[in-house]
Amino acid sequence: MEGSSIKSSDPGSEHQGVRYPGDEAPYYLPFGHEIDVFTQCHQRSLAVMLKGPTGCGKTRFIEHMAWRLKRPLVTVSCHDDLSAADLVGRFLIRDNGTVWQDGPLSRAVRIGAICYLDEVVEARQDAVVVIHPLTDYRRVLPIDKTGELVEAAPGFQLVISYNPGYQHVSKDLKPSTRQRFVALDFDFPSPDREVEIIIHESGVEQGLAHDLVALAGRIRGLADRGLAEVPSSRLLVATARLIANGIPPRLACNVGLVSPLSDDPNLIAAMHDLIDAVLVD
Ligand SMILES: Nc1ncnc2c1ncn2[C@@H]1O[C@H](COP(=O)(O)OP(=O)(O)OP(=O)(O)O)[C@@H](O)[C@H]1O
Ligand SMILES: [Mg+2]
Repeated sequence: MEGSSIKSSDPGSEHQGVRYPGDEAPYYLPFGHEIDVFTQCHQRSLAVMLKGPTGCGKTRFIEHMAWRLKRPLVTVSCHDDLSAADLVGRFLIRDNGTVWQDGPLSRAVRIGAICYLDEVVEARQDAVVVIHPLTDYRRVLPIDKTGELVEAAPGFQLVISYNPGYQHVSKDLKPSTRQRFVALDFDFPSPDREVEIIIHESGVEQGLAHDLVALAGRIRGLADRGLAEVPSSRLLVATARLIANGIPPRLACNVGLVSPLSDDPNLIAAMHDLIDAVLVD
């Protein structure tokens, strides 16, 4: 895939939407006590909510934690059409009649996996409600269509992600849902940590990683001038990978940072000025 200098994380193996841990830890650079807190929550079967902007490391964190805790990981990307049946399962018509097929949540509950519901506020209300009995002392999943009451296997843990401020208020989580979770707040890494992450993930040299982080800091300042989306660590990593693969830095910054962020000619011009000020090549 990327340049030869990249130390790629071992993704483990995947079967039927379940990711099993590989030999090597997915790379994750912590910012505080999140590893300890999550470990305690796991041991006490507490559900966890990861809050934070796009591209700041939430998915990488959960991949890392599943590896540390030696648990399979089931990830569901929620969308506004996601129903309870998409999570729990449905009857399928086959030649010899109907057969029940577990959805990803039921599979995770039965095998004791960590179930990560990404952007859960996007899901339909009926889907959000099915997770409630799994988040309290009952730890059960009622499957109405089969009449089954599945008890969560040891090791099952529910984790949701949530990007505050991104969705419309009408899509906010209900208090009865929110109050079932321990919440971990994520944000963009500090400049030093972001440099370290970029070097690890792309293989670029330190000076360039510093420049990219300085540039990101200044572009993030344009939020005051109407830039709705500011660059995430994900965009910086992608830009750095282009550069590591031989794309000239200015071009990489244009296609990797500027264009994805805005269509507004004034903001684009302002970002070009910042690139000229920061990148000396
Ligand atoms: N603390 C970190 N340690 C290691 N890599 C990180 C960290 N933070 C960000 N990254 C890098 O940024 C990329 C994007 O992070 P990730 O996919 O985890 O974001 P996310 O918070 O899940 O975003 P989204 O809300 O859009 O799903 C990762 O693939 C990784 O390269
Ligand atoms: Mg993610």
